[in-house]
Amino acid sequence: MSGSELFVLECYDPTKEYHGQKQFDCGNQIINAFVAKSLRKQVRESLSRCFVLLDAGDNDRFIGFYTLSSFAILAPDLMAVKSSGLPSRVPCVRLIMLGVDKHYQGRGLGRRLMKSVFEKTLAVSERIGLYGLYLDADAQAVEFYIALGFVPLRTRDASRPTPMLMHIEAIRAATR
Ligand SMILES: CC(C)(COP(=O)(O)OP(=O)(O)OC[C@H]1O[C@@H](n2cnc3c(N)ncnc32)[C@H](O)[C@@H]1OP(=O)(O)O)[C@@H](O)C(=O)NCCC(=O)NCCS
Repeated sequence: MSGSELFVLECYDPTKEYHGQKQFDCGNQIINAFVAKSLRKQVRESLSRCFVLLDAGDNDRFIGFYTLSSFAILAPDLMAVKSSGLPSRVPCVRLIMLGVDKHYQGRGLGRRLMKSVFEKTLAVSERIGLYGLYLDADAQAVEFYIALGFVPLRTRDASRPTPMLMHIEAIRAATR
């Protein structure tokens, strides 16, 4: 770990080599494998957009990231938050992956990445209709998202991810 506290958030460039990308370890093996093996290809093919957090004090080490895509939620899956008056497919932004390297966790960087996710979501909502921000949360991350304002869309079950939503107006309020 470096002594520097200068962290830079930038749009991930799939043509660039990132120091430490293959060694990235957030403690979640699925996310680690995705960063090492699939992230570059997925962004190159425009299946998601990625923003990466670099430690400028350690040779721009890859220490955190998130990926976003467009998504449509089926209206019945939103019963927990709205039971009628929605089209059959509800437009959303989807937060696919989020991670902060284990050595950098607990220092506000996850929250910083989520602030950026909210800003990106709001920016898109000024161009196309968006009901909110959707994600599938791992059991150990559900409380992290609830504290930010996300609502579980079904009863929590530790054996599978919990679908969660944050309405666009809640995102707007959280970024004020
Ligand atoms: C979840 C994750 C991104 C949080 O990153 P982080 O940099 O440690 O988070 P922060 O330091 O910004 O923490 C912000 C707040 O959330 C809390 N928090 C962090 N991780 C949490 C968790 N897993 N559950 C509940 N609360 C959590 C912190 O205590 C802090 O609370 P405070 O503001 O009251 O002090 C990180 O732990 C991670 O990469 N985990 C493994 C991958 C993962 O689970 N990704 C999400 C998959 S859906």
